[in-house]
Amino acid sequence: MKMTGHTVLITGGTSGIGLALAAQLLKRGNTVLITGRTESRLAAARESLPGVHTYVCDQSDPGAIERLCAAAVSDFPDLDVLINNAGIGLKRNLNDPDVPLTELEREIRTNLNGPIQMVHALLPHLIPTC
Ligand SMILES: NC(=O)c1ccc[n+]([C@@H]2O[C@H](COP(=O)([O-])OP(=O)(O)OC[C@H]3O[C@@H](n4cnc5c(N)ncnc54)[C@H](OP(=O)(O)O)[C@@H]3O)[C@@H](O)[C@H]2O)c1
Repeated sequence: MKMTGHTVLITGGTSGIGLALAAQLLKRGNTVLITGRTESRLAAARESLPGVHTYVCDQSDPGAIERLCAAAVSDFPDLDVLINNAGIGLKRNLNDPDVPLTELEREIRTNLNGPIQMVHALLPHLIPTC
């Protein structure tokens, strides 16, 4: 893949791998959009990466994903790369029957359902026209 001239949406770009990818892709002349759950962390990312575009989106929330994809495509019709990076890894004792399923369900919505919904929503923009 050519590493320049793309419009790239990275989910979870406020820290770690997502933030580092955003920095590298900006450096190579791409338009970069990142997401995160809180405006304050996105503001810190904008501070460290001038030129990055940010969107608040909790990807455990299907409605938020729908709004994000609509806004991103409207703001950047040339969007052509999705990096499904956002995710969480929660520690729990799987042998303890008293541990509620709530957190496990949130983890599945964030790490599995969210990325699938992102691909489904953005697929028309990611498939090159022949
Ligand atoms: N680092 C590793 O060794 C490792 C190993 C296996 C898998 N992974 C996976 O690789 C990805 C990046 O890892 P990392 O180490 O860079 O993690 P990280 O530093 O914790 O960053 C995670 C990113 O995901 C975002 N995020 C978390 N929950 C979200 C949600 N519900 N909606 C939207 N954004 C959300 C966070 O943004 P906010 O907190 O600002 O919302 C943050 O930007 C994750 O999916 C992680 O599970 C990492």
